[in-house]
Amino acid sequence: MSFLIGPKVTRFDTCAQFAKEAQLGERDLIVTNEYIYRPFFEELKLSCQVMFQEKYGSGEPTDVMIDAMCADASALSFDRVIAIGGGSVMDTAKFLTLRQGSPVLDLVDGKITPERVKALFCVPTTCGTGSEVTCLSAIDQTTRGTKVGFGTPAMYADEAVLIPELLSSLPLKFFATSSIDAFIHAIESYLSPGASRESKLFSMEAMQLILRGYLRMEREGVDVRFEESENFLTASMYAGIAFGNAGTGAVHAMSYPLGGNYHVPHGEANYAMFRGVFGKYMEKDPGGRIAELNEKLAATLDCARDEVYVVIQRLFDNVLPAKPLHEYGMTEEDCENFADIVEQKQVRLTKNNYVKLGRDDYAAIYRGLY
Ligand SMILES: [Fe+2]
Repeated sequence: MSFLIGPKVTRFDTCAQFAKEAQLGERDLIVTNEYIYRPFFEELKLSCQVMFQEKYGSGEPTDVMIDAMCADASALSFDRVIAIGGGSVMDTAKFLTLRQGSPVLDLVDGKITPERVKALFCVPTTCGTGSEVTCLSAIDQTTRGTKVGFGTPAMYADEAVLIPELLSSLPLKFFATSSIDAFIHAIESYLSPGASRESKLFSMEAMQLILRGYLRMEREGVDVRFEESENFLTASMYAGIAFGNAGTGAVHAMSYPLGGNYHVPHGEANYAMFRGVFGKYMEKDPGGRIAELNEKLAATLDCARDEVYVVIQRLFDNVLPAKPLHEYGMTEEDCENFADIVEQKQVRLTKNNYVKLGRDDYAAIYRGLY
């Protein structure tokens, strides 16, 4: 069992402080979105080179997008990549730090050995992916019709930079999908057979920060989340550290076919699967490590142990109501087909399940949520 925090973690109150401290300048390549750059960085009049990711396509990063960005970056001269954005921006920027970041599918297939040649700063603008502290990148392989998680130690950031100011323009829906994704990173990694004493510390603190934030939002209204920005950014990073070491499991595995086929945002697809997977875990082995987890969550939520998942759903539904799967377009046939896909193609994740689940369990979970 080992435990690693890849990057150095730094915190700033404002983007201006970060720019000054990091001495951002002409040898830096900022990878971001225009809607982030304009309000937060334009007035700083930096001499950095800038790439806007949306010029290469929308949504989650694809192999085609990453290849195009690597081609354009290869014509530039820079020493550091400053990735400022959500998971898509950070996951893409990681490839720009490699000697040969494309063709990305050759990296995925092991035909290119990843070799790091540029420094990388990751500055998250959502509170979900934890990509700033993982060496992972989620890639939609458009040419192959599936999504894949690619990871190499060569893609760890040198610095993960937390700036709460950046959450101030995050719309409620993106706040909800990202923070719920972070919660699921934390809870799945806590129950993973790969969890260590260290990773569980980060998982538990992440869950507590997120649940306390949601309790406060229920009491005081959703806008109070802006006062909790630093806590949510911290929780997301801690959850990233935890799952980067211990992995995520069935919720993520089962959400991928839903997200991929019906274009449901990652965090929302996870939330759609969450109660079904945890219901199955409780049915199969309620007395194992999940009992210890539930006891701790009950204390945080000030509720009975057998009410933990009801209360969590109430808190999350307050911001992002869970929907049955058919409302996303899923069919009854999909319940069976997706179960086959999870059983056959998501072993990388399902090996982290709390209890062993099989194809028929996955089908039953999909049907139960349908
Ligand atoms: Fe996730």
